[in-house]
Amino acid sequence: MFADRVLSGMRPTGRMHIGHYHGALKNWIKLQEEYECLFFAADWHALTTHYETPETIAESVWDMFIDWLAAGIDPTRATIFIQSRVPEHAELTLLLGMISPIGWLERVPSYKEQQQKLPDRDLSNYGFLGYPVMQSADILIYRANMVPVGEDQVSHIELTRELARRFNHIYGREPGFEEKARLAIKKLGSKKAKRYQQFRTAFQEKGDTEALDAARSLLNDTQNLSLGDQERLFGFLEGSRRVILPEPQPLLTETPRVPGLDGQKMSKSYGNAIMLREDPAAVTEKIRTMQTDPARVRRSDPGNPEKCPVWGLHQIYSGKETQDWVVKGCTTAGIGCLECKQPVIDAIIREQKPIHDRAQKYLDDPALVRNIVADGCERARKLAEETMRDVRQAMGLAYD
Ligand code: TRP
Ligand code: SF4
Repeated sequence: MFADRVLSGMRPTGRMHIGHYHGALKNWIKLQEEYECLFFAADWHALTTHYETPETIAESVWDMFIDWLAAGIDPTRATIFIQSRVPEHAELTLLLGMISPIGWLERVPSYKEQQQKLPDRDLSNYGFLGYPVMQSADILIYRANMVPVGEDQVSHIELTRELARRFNHIYGREPGFEEKARLAIKKLGSKKAKRYQQFRTAFQEKGDTEALDAARSLLNDTQNLSLGDQERLFGFLEGSRRVILPEPQPLLTETPRVPGLDGQKMSKSYGNAIMLREDPAAVTEKIRTMQTDPARVRRSDPGNPEKCPVWGLHQIYSGKETQDWVVKGCTTAGIGCLECKQPVIDAIIREQKPIHDRAQKYLDDPALVRNIVADGCERARKLAEETMRDVRQAMGLAYD
């Protein structure tokens, strides 16, 4: 029930570019080999800022899913779904709202940053202030313990952890907790019970976090516990409360920043992006006209790769040998910029060939994507419903 589970989402902003690919998708594709993964289109999150332009959302969602599948998200391994098709996310958002201090939300750095970055949008709406509460619900509703995100999202995961802690603190209280926990330990069987106790002691007396992890995976591997007992034993490791909503960890994606064609961060709205399914001719054209070190006016002027966005692409796409060739050739004016760009062009086209190939069957048959996503929504909904039953009960809303 609390097995290793990865969850991540993206706001539907339309077609993906290679920045999304290297920054997130490649990592997701790796994670799906190893863990149960859930990936979703955060359409409600898109509305928190773009509430005035709803007409682009649905199309963006489908384009985004085709890109995910083309990039290599495997629907037999990962569950892909649409946030608003799992309305339990809204219910948990509402309920978490009860215990979300407004001060915590106002202090989330992205709140003020986005308002400054998007001055022509009115972001003084309740939905936008609640953005990280909804994100917390997205994560906690699946009891996901790993959330692959970029640096800019870490503060949201931190808030998620704080809300989970607060939730468990308030709603995980239970009369006779310790006694019930001790009874639950017995149900583990004598061998596992002994190991659980040893791990717990090691954590509580020496702060041994590896023992804590070991105890948690021991619990994850135990099939015969009721959900309530599992929550007690998770909680008993650290204190005297049931863990109804476990705290997730951010999985920071270590990727070099993908520069856009003008050297700024790659973004569709800046018009400096290379799309994930870019036509090979367009890749060639875009890179050939891409900015270089402004100091290299003539072929004979030496340049500095550090001042050139093409170098940023070489760092992603080229091996050491080519990189050495670039540095030497650039700083001595031994190579021209077009020459320097060619290996990047070739590498991008090579990388995108299988992506185009995989996309084709989804483009030919849109029903295929619809069905994959419908299945995903259904699967996600079952998982969400399990948690919600528990949450409703804990919050006094169980009527049967
Ligand atoms: N806020 C994330 C972003 O802008 C998208 C998102 C929504 C998300 N809910 C999430 C990411 C849950 C991870 C987990 O990129
Ligand atoms: Fe940039 Fe390469 Fe030209 Fe140097 S040679 S300025 S690294 S494109």
